[in-house]
Amino acid sequence: MKTKARIAVLVSGGGTNLQALLDAQARGDIPHGEIVLVISNNRSAYALERAAKAGIPSRVLLRKELGSQAAFEAALADALRENNIDLVILAGFMSILSQSFTRQFEGRIINVHPSLIPSFCGEGFYGLRVHEAALARGVKVTGATVHIVNEIPDGGPILLQKAVEIRPDDTPEVLQKRVMEQAEWILLPRAAAMLCAQLCEKGEWK
Ligand code: GAR
Repeated sequence: MKTKARIAVLVSGGGTNLQALLDAQARGDIPHGEIVLVISNNRSAYALERAAKAGIPSRVLLRKELGSQAAFEAALADALRENNIDLVILAGFMSILSQSFTRQFEGRIINVHPSLIPSFCGEGFYGLRVHEAALARGVKVTGATVHIVNEIPDGGPILLQKAVEIRPDDTPEVLQKRVMEQAEWILLPRAAAMLCAQLCEKGEWK
């Protein structure tokens, strides 16, 4: 019986959420999981350097090079299967995955989103834009959500949420950093640990 779920982390940019996962793993906070692969859809993502520093193999898959979203997703699915991945974590991964992809890994893909879903989510709401929208609307509380990924962008079942206070002088950048520090970097490793433990308990391996 397996005791550790094999985790792939999908990234596009700075990779601070990847770093939070790597740090949690190093502290022993994800006892039933192991990050074995990082996949980026951006060759210059700093997240790739974080993976290299931690000694985790990485792959770059570019939709432009592969020719279409379908070809990109086929290459992604191949990479996940070749590496016997049990859990896929979207950590700042800026690409919407199709239903045919999410169905192949049903219940095994999670995403971190920088708002309290269902506010400020769905197509067009990503990265700094989410915080710009929250400030523009004048909400006083925001936060982060970790959810299961299905065919609806940011629409899958919610696993964890944490609220973060908005201050009167916040800029999108300042707010983004507070949401990361107070919510995302805590919730994502916690959700990963939780799902890996569940997968181990159920013994559900492909
Ligand atoms: C994070 O705030 C993440 O929640 C968000 O992008 C940032 C990536 O930062 N993701 C989305 O908006 C996805 N809809 P990181 O690369 O430093 O982890």
